[in-house]
Amino acid sequence: MIHLVIVAFLVVASTIGVGLFLTNYPLLPLQASEQAVNIDGLFDIHWWFIAFFFSLITVFVVYSVIVFRRKPGERGDGVYMHGNTRLEIVWTIVPIAIVLWLAVIGADSLATVERRDPEAITVDVFAAQWNWRFQYSVEVEGGTVAAVVSDTLVLPKNQQVLLRLHSDDVIHSFYVPEFRVKQDVLPGGEEFTRELRITPNLEGTFKVRCAEICGQLHWDMQAEIQVVDRSEFLSWLQEQAGDCELSPEECGQRWATQFGCLACHSLDGTVVIGPSWQGLYGSSEELSDGSTITVDDAYLHESIVDPNAKIVQGFSAGVMPQTFAGILTEEQIQQIIAFIASLQ
Ligand code: CUA
Repeated sequence: MIHLVIVAFLVVASTIGVGLFLTNYPLLPLQASEQAVNIDGLFDIHWWFIAFFFSLITVFVVYSVIVFRRKPGERGDGVYMHGNTRLEIVWTIVPIAIVLWLAVIGADSLATVERRDPEAITVDVFAAQWNWRFQYSVEVEGGTVAAVVSDTLVLPKNQQVLLRLHSDDVIHSFYVPEFRVKQDVLPGGEEFTRELRITPNLEGTFKVRCAEICGQLHWDMQAEIQVVDRSEFLSWLQEQAGDCELSPEECGQRWATQFGCLACHSLDGTVVIGPSWQGLYGSSEELSDGSTITVDDAYLHESIVDPNAKIVQGFSAGVMPQTFAGILTEEQIQQIIAFIASLQ
């Protein structure tokens, strides 16, 4: 009997110690969304179960090894037990009850995480090998709706956002550890569009990472997320929605930033993934088939709408998305070329 009391005491003490460590040690990334609060709550419950069962097993084993070891002078075998109906009923019913309870709170948390807020703003997310593009629909003056495309996902704090996820090519996965939610992004059009709801509750800069192996540069498929207060979000959106009334070069720079070109093409001569744009216009480039071309308007236009037509030596075909012909307007393409031409 004294053994049982000691073991029970040690199990309780160890559970509290291990449980407090697991629930307080920063094992998880920063918590930055309302959904994360719920999911972390589930984590905490599981940590306590883990602490309890870990303690139950290790205390029994260690206690038995030390206290019931064969002492000098002792001989013979231990006492054999065969079957214990009461114990078997207990260790069947208790785990079933625990699993059922976990199922109930799991379903309840899922419902909370997927709760639809009628006030939610919608952002279309386009994944492609290997970048992210975010498209907002904004009502501008006169009631017309303008599309704003950005390479950065800007979100207002404390408002639910409905992300509609589309893929231009293969399966990707939208994952922001700080938001705790993850969703595969499927190609195949409207029928395969998936949705994800997030309510950011912490201002700051985060990163979306692709969480599905999607080819050569999967490791580098990331984009910045900025959570800002509501008024800052609205003014950012209005600013983006305005027509580009700058010079062609400046508009080209804006499109190159918004559409993610600059993720792969540097402006300072360093080779990131594609050729740098600095000093590119007017230069001679040797192609992978051995021929040489001069970089002019026609070549750049072709490289944007049909990037695999000519590949510069040292670079690979199939890396640049082949979808820009359907994304950029002719005017935007001309302005991007003007921007590249200005980078002498
Ligand atoms: Cu996209 Cu991995």
